[in-house]
Amino acid sequence: MIIGVPKEIMHDEARVAASPETVAKFVSDGFKVLFEKGAGEGAQYHDEEYEKAGAQLVDGAKAIYDGADMILKVKEPLYNEQLGMHEVDMMRQGQYLITFIHPASPINHEMVKKLAARGVISITLDGIPRISRAQNLDALTSMSTCAGYKGILMAANDLSTFIPMMGTAVGMIQPAKVMVIGVGVAGLQALATAKRLGAVTYAADIRPAAAEQAKSLGAKIVETGVPAELAIADGGYANKLPEEVLLKEREALKATIQDMDIVFLSALIPGKIAPIIITEEMVKGMKRGSVIVDISIDQGGNCAITPAGAKETKHGVIIEGIKNIPGMLPKSSTWMFSQNMYNLVKYLVKDGQVSLDMNDEVISKSLVTKGGEILHAGTREAMGL
Ligand code: NAI
Repeated sequence: MIIGVPKEIMHDEARVAASPETVAKFVSDGFKVLFEKGAGEGAQYHDEEYEKAGAQLVDGAKAIYDGADMILKVKEPLYNEQLGMHEVDMMRQGQYLITFIHPASPINHEMVKKLAARGVISITLDGIPRISRAQNLDALTSMSTCAGYKGILMAANDLSTFIPMMGTAVGMIQPAKVMVIGVGVAGLQALATAKRLGAVTYAADIRPAAAEQAKSLGAKIVETGVPAELAIADGGYANKLPEEVLLKEREALKATIQDMDIVFLSALIPGKIAPIIITEEMVKGMKRGSVIVDISIDQGGNCAITPAGAKETKHGVIIEGIKNIPGMLPKSSTWMFSQNMYNLVKYLVKDGQVSLDMNDEVISKSLVTKGGEILHAGTREAMGL
């Protein structure tokens, strides 16, 4: 089987879907790997390392799409300005594509329809369920880990004060206070990073189990006032809360938020629009020079006035709505992503053949298109099919 790894074409995307380490593993497992020249440069992985690992370096994306049975990418297919062609239009019937497709998101519906029309067999990484046996395939979790870490470093950089307590000859400097709201994968990593920098940490989550984990990382828990029976949905995930309950949560968190130097927002219900936890009025009450990092911005954001894809100061508060945070840690995020991708390909390919067992939830939840059809349940629902 021939694997193709094209260069990512999304603006400012520095990651790539394979590291020299995973290329070497694919080659030793009997795969042939076509790798677009220069595709790893942004992540500090260089052509000579890929060549040494056994990849065949290829000029241009077109030759990758023409020559490979399976395309591995980081981001969804896009229009390639340089070639004047959509990436999907370079694909063919029966070819495999594995990447983050975010197929339920309305902005991607046309592209998903194109994938189906061309007969591409596409698998989306954001569909991999968070179950124990799929942990090493779960690129979304890896990327949330990167976003939690780097997001706190961005906030630290924006802050005009030290984070740790400093005893100096001219006096004592108090440590910064950091609050994380939504302590899932990204939030827990953010808390751990803030703690390592010396902050006093606070956390809030509607799931008692998440709050418990935050507490074990040394955070002070701020009660949301949301009863557990409302907070938890099937499978242990958080529930979408009705507006009147969210109102109460905002009231419960307001005083703590206004006392913080950094507020890190990572509250999310899988597959839904992010809940608004900080309103514009609440921002107005925050300390001047304090920082909000809102990493839920892809789902609309947890703060009502987060600028999508940008950083802006509003009412004296610096608000970060940067979308591709893992891409700002390109070598580590590429390393993690590539390991997940290698594990997933090994999971799918048996004796040189791809096997897609629809009774396996790893497959049924991540398969988007096959045989000209859109199969992904969330996408079908979102498209009204
Ligand atoms: P997760 O599902 O592990 O965690 C979300 C947490 O939010 C859960 O613990 C849940 O209980 C909590 N939550 C839900 N509603 C809440 C509410 N009303 N109040 C308080 N807590 C609430 O998700 P994960 O993987 O940590 O991702 C978090 C967010 O970060 C997502 O929006 C994800 O798309 C985003 N993300 C953004 C990146 C970027 O570059 N901007 C990169 C990676 C992830």
